[in-house]
Amino acid sequence: MSLPAEVRIVEVGPRDGLQNEKIDIGTANKIDLIDRLAQAGLRSIEATAFVSPKWVPQMADASAVLAGIARRPGVSYPVLVPNEQGYERARAAGADEIAVFTAASEAFSLKNTNASIEQSLDRFRPVLDRARHDGVKVRGYVSTVLGCPYQGDVPLADVVRVARALHAMGCYEVSLGDTIGIGTPVKARRMLKAVAADVPMQALAVHFHDTYGQALANVLACLEEGVAVVDSAVSGAGGCPYAKGASGNVASEDVVYMLHGMGIRTGIQLDLLVETGRWLAGLLGRETDSRVGRALAK
Ligand code: HMG
Ligand code: MG
Repeated sequence: MSLPAEVRIVEVGPRDGLQNEKIDIGTANKIDLIDRLAQAGLRSIEATAFVSPKWVPQMADASAVLAGIARRPGVSYPVLVPNEQGYERARAAGADEIAVFTAASEAFSLKNTNASIEQSLDRFRPVLDRARHDGVKVRGYVSTVLGCPYQGDVPLADVVRVARALHAMGCYEVSLGDTIGIGTPVKARRMLKAVAADVPMQALAVHFHDTYGQALANVLACLEEGVAVVDSAVSGAGGCPYAKGASGNVASEDVVYMLHGMGIRTGIQLDLLVETGRWLAGLLGRETDSRVGRALAK
């Protein structure tokens, strides 16, 4: 088993992290967070979500956040888009990369977006067409790849089918999300292997939540399988508002510490990342969820 020499971290804290936090840190702090992450060396930072503010009020300031950040050359700032209305808002705010999202479980898709999986894919087709025309890059998410809070087990064939559909539609990368953090390493590896039989590994990313403390082990299993893109959130913030009980994403600090410890390059300065995670946790009124963040506390 070989490990990649370099891994790209997709920092999802400003979106996946903050969308489910009870405390609203305010627009200025969100902007500051994104700028600090870029300064720490992150090259992909999911900045916000142009979803319905009635569904996710924490992301209601999406346009102001995107307008306020100091865009750095070489850094991409994808934003979540659920439909054409979201695409228009995102473009008006200056987005040049977006992420569309659906699920491998029908029950979750309905709860999260009021649409079946097929309906959600139908919503994306015009978005992808417009994005292609506008030169906008599109990432895709498949949620509930290792289990669903409503449906329970999710057949692997469904994960493969939905990932294939997103890739065929034009998503340059498909992120496989263990939305409720229920997975364990052997299952995670098996799932990735099944998807990679249909979608090239270079077009895949993994996205683990850490509800049961399995996320780092799952990341390692998938790295050994050949994936080289990992989603994570600074200080382990967040969860999904439509997945009851789901805790935050795996903490970026913990992933970076593990990768650097194995000699894998990320381009990220761990000390700056740790500082950012502790600052964010302070704004959220609690201790950081990153074990590395706590261990390296000054
Ligand atoms: P709907 O209620 O069926 O939408 O929601 P609709 O088309 O019937 O519109 C209803 C109202 O929403 C209308 O306003 C629209 O204008 C408005 P009204 O006439 O009532 O005043 N609306 C919008 N407003 C702003 N921006 C928009 C937009 N679209 C409609 N884009 C919809 C359907 C998809 C919009 C809704 O269900 C939604 O926004 N869902 C998003 C839920 C969400 O953000 N979940 C978290 C992200 S997914 C996640 O966390 C998982 C992930 O991290 C991976 C993993 O961990 O697995 C990605
Ligand atoms: Mg997530």
